[in-house]
Amino acid sequence: MKLVLKQPDDWHLHLRDREAMHSVLAHTAARFGRAIIMPNLRTPVTDTGAARDYRQRILDALPANAGFRPLMTLYLTDNTDAAEIIRAHESGYIHAVKLYPAGATTNSAAGVTRMENTWSALEAMQDCGMPLLVHGEVTAPEVDVFDREMVFIDKILEPLLRRFPTLKLVLEHITTRQGIEFVLRGGDQVAGTLTAHHLLLNRNAIFAGGIRPHHYCLPILKREAHREALLEAATGGNPKFFLGTDSAPHARHAKESACGCAGLYTSHAAIELYAEAFEQLDRLDRLEGFASVFGADFYGLPHNETQITLLKEDWQVPESYPLGSAELVPMRAGEVVHWRLGAQ
Ligand code: DOR
Ligand code: ZN
Repeated sequence: MKLVLKQPDDWHLHLRDREAMHSVLAHTAARFGRAIIMPNLRTPVTDTGAARDYRQRILDALPANAGFRPLMTLYLTDNTDAAEIIRAHESGYIHAVKLYPAGATTNSAAGVTRMENTWSALEAMQDCGMPLLVHGEVTAPEVDVFDREMVFIDKILEPLLRRFPTLKLVLEHITTRQGIEFVLRGGDQVAGTLTAHHLLLNRNAIFAGGIRPHHYCLPILKREAHREALLEAATGGNPKFFLGTDSAPHARHAKESACGCAGLYTSHAAIELYAEAFEQLDRLDRLEGFASVFGADFYGLPHNETQITLLKEDWQVPESYPLGSAELVPMRAGEVVHWRLGAQ
């Protein structure tokens, strides 16, 4: 079996920087036309100049003839002002602003401590049509880790939408039925991204026969009923839901640790893994909309003119890939993926 798709885009990607970025970029560039690049570098990308420089480093690291285009984002802080938003918007290469609640995940210490501190930035974003990309989890340690998305929706997102009713907003890497329902309740300006790993795995994968640090990510995997709700949304043909891998490379030693980092690496087989997920519900005909059309429409960008081919063929994922001077353990390491990317 063979599937030909308009070239997809990844609307949520962690590329890191320098040697690590050089190691992982080709996986994304082989599959995707564009990707929204997360700004949570060790020194977060908080202004337009930093985004311009980071974009240039990505372009310099691309394989020759790669048609891939990075779409940059700004990291929202308590101090982001309206003037910075306008500069970002006018740059032409910054397409969104990312909200990390302070302390929610990797490199989020400089994130937002109180939403009130962001009102002037959000107002400017609402005015110029710049989307807010949301890591939707509360950080209060007393809230159960499996409930953090749900509580964030009630406590933060619902009031935010009432205050900024026309702000474009993407709830990133949705992991719960409540997240899906939030996006469905919102107007056309509210959308959501779904990762391949949250479509394919439930929380049992973190504990299969022992603790599995390579299946630890944030928001954490949830129970099967939530996975089913995500898969239904992804394959349902609703343009509010589109592809965002949240592929997040970490060195093996940083994950296989007493306090392991959050993130799954999926860029090596991203579109192939989504094909597996869509195949579970026999809805491969809906993959192109989800992967190659709805996200571009939401961002007001043209569809890619190139195509990719997927073949229904098993291949074995390597045990590891290089990550700078270290190595990373990809999703399905040493195991089989059932779709293969055809030669371009
Ligand atoms: O699992 C995750 N890894 N979730 C995030 O929100 C951040 C990401 C990372 O940067 O490693
Ligand atoms: Zn992410």
